Amino acid sequence: MKGILLAGGSGTRLHPMTLASSKQLLPVYDKPMIYYPLSVLMLAGIRDILVISTPADLPQFRRLLGDGERLGVRFTYAEQPRPEGLAQAFHIGRDWLAGEACALALGDNLIFADHLSHLLREASAQPSGATVFAYQVRDPERYGVVSIDGAGRALDIVEKPAVPASNWAVIGLYFYDREVSELAARVTPSARGELEITDLNRMYMQSGRLRVQRLGRGCAWLDAGTPDSLLQAATFVQTIQSRQGMLVGCPEEVAFRMGWIDADRLRAHAHALGKTELGRVLTALADGEIA
Ligand code: DAU
Repeated sequence: MKGILLAGGSGTRLHPMTLASSKQLLPVYDKPMIYYPLSVLMLAGIRDILVISTPADLPQFRRLLGDGERLGVRFTYAEQPRPEGLAQAFHIGRDWLAGEACALALGDNLIFADHLSHLLREASAQPSGATVFAYQVRDPERYGVVSIDGAGRALDIVEKPAVPASNWAVIGLYFYDREVSELAARVTPSARGELEITDLNRMYMQSGRLRVQRLGRGCAWLDAGTPDSLLQAATFVQTIQSRQGMLVGCPEEVAFRMGWIDADRLRAHAHALGKTELGRVLTALADGEIA
């Protein structure tokens, strides 16, 4: 399975912070925002990743992430000239994807859950269909909303409904089978002129192939698109890291735990981070002092 990290858009709700910088490169506590969804894709076992951003911002992502060799993954880059919808990622990535199954992660979505690796592996192992994750929120009208029956089957999925049928928001992480390129090509612009990911998900739902994985109380999902949610996300990461001494959303750690880089390579990454706390924890991990 391949993965797409979508990190375009203009981040208008974060102006003036995003006038000269991509939203997805802003710091969330001690790491660039994009590290968090990147770590999630890597935890799903995905090593071939297409990073999509605006023509102006793409060079900065290249500078930050490089070709991926240092993490044991492969990054490819593609421009999205205008933000014409999330499903456009599959048009832009069509040749690169070459008919394979693919996960899509939004560059501003942060997910934390105890058993996340397990859920991700389960989603990526599905031989056919799509998997979305649903999370209960107070303000579902801001999101894609899914209604689910007692057996967990999707009954309906609607983008930003004025009157939501449930409070289950669909988070910005989607797993699709090999048909995704074909189906995404059939999505037409919505009333707001976007190629909606919800329309793609509805196609899977209508053929009975949309799996909805509910995320419960022990999980946190944050989209860092406003000053308040950005601060909340940073505080959340700080709280977990400083209390537990463990890292959240660190691709170097994930690469090491997945066995894609060895302890020497991890030590070199830690060294490059100088005297930061991140560097200290990675060194301890490489030295076997953290389980
Ligand atoms: O965050 C989850 C929600 O993301 C889902 O519940 C919704 O179903 C989905 O449509 C999306 O809603 P948003 O209103 O949050 O989408 P937004 O336009 O803010 O875009 C999400 C991120 O993707 C944002 O960081 C900008 C980026 N983006 C967006 C568009 C439309 C792109 O990179 N390219 C695009 O064309």
